[in-house]
Amino acid sequence: MKTTTICFANNKGGSGKSTTCCNVGYELSKMGYRVLMIDGDMQMNLSLSLFSEDAVLESAQNGNNVYTAVTNQEDISNYITQTKYENLDVVLSSSLMSNIEFDLFSKWQRELILKNCLKNVKVSDKYDFILMDAPPTLGGWVMNMLCASDYLIIPVEASPWGLFGLANMFEFFATVQQINPDISLLGVAITKVDTRKNYFKQTVDALHNTDGVRMFENYIRTDSSIEWAQDASLPVAVYKPSARSAKEYKALTQEVVSLVNR
Ligand SMILES: Nc1ncnc2c1ncn2[C@@H]1O[C@H](COP(=O)(O)OP(=O)(O)O)[C@@H](O)[C@H]1O
Ligand SMILES: [Mg+2]
Repeated sequence: MKTTTICFANNKGGSGKSTTCCNVGYELSKMGYRVLMIDGDMQMNLSLSLFSEDAVLESAQNGNNVYTAVTNQEDISNYITQTKYENLDVVLSSSLMSNIEFDLFSKWQRELILKNCLKNVKVSDKYDFILMDAPPTLGGWVMNMLCASDYLIIPVEASPWGLFGLANMFEFFATVQQINPDISLLGVAITKVDTRKNYFKQTVDALHNTDGVRMFENYIRTDSSIEWAQDASLPVAVYKPSARSAKEYKALTQEVVSLVNR
């Protein structure tokens, strides 16, 4: 199996990108797939959902993060941190990622820098999946992430403003496809669903009426276990195996695998 690269992106913040990337990554690793996750956001939420703040800040200080790899245009293999879970590795982020747009600006073929950093890892066949957690922006850095990806997953929050800005995301994705014609939208993953409220139905109806969009059948409901798990720097299935969201993320991950393997 070749390495499949999936980017979780949505320019709207709080849509569940980091949560979904972390928990899908963990579930894939539990299924026996070898997984590398890349934290592309200066908020470092993906990094913090696996490691303590002290550990993340230390790696930021000694340069063991995605920022150093990309700005030095180096092989990402040298920046991989192992997690305590089998088959699950991560490239941590750094608050220096706030400079990334500026740093990329003057570089030759600036959309393809991350793709080149990932080349050796992909060729070496060390991982079955590379998952990337994007920041809530649509600029040169997210362009890099999508130019290095086979698939895009867009997490969308089932809330009144959940669909806000999604048109910009699709427009941006169309531009990405001109540079990376191999990428496709794997699906929209609806998160933070509160079945007592109408927003889920509204969100689904609106997305049904959007051309070219497919939604994952498995969605994720709001669950306080998610936040407790993040507070403890654990995937939700580790924090509380019986949690509803743990089962939902497992089902979503199985759906991801079935779509990718087609
Ligand atoms: N299913 C869920 N139930 C409850 N809270 C959630 C759920 N998914 C995400 N959250 C919370 O919502 C916030 C935003 O999620 P996050 O994954 O960080 O979004 P993004 O990466 O898109 O900004 C976080 O505080 C997270 O704890
Ligand atoms: Mg995030």
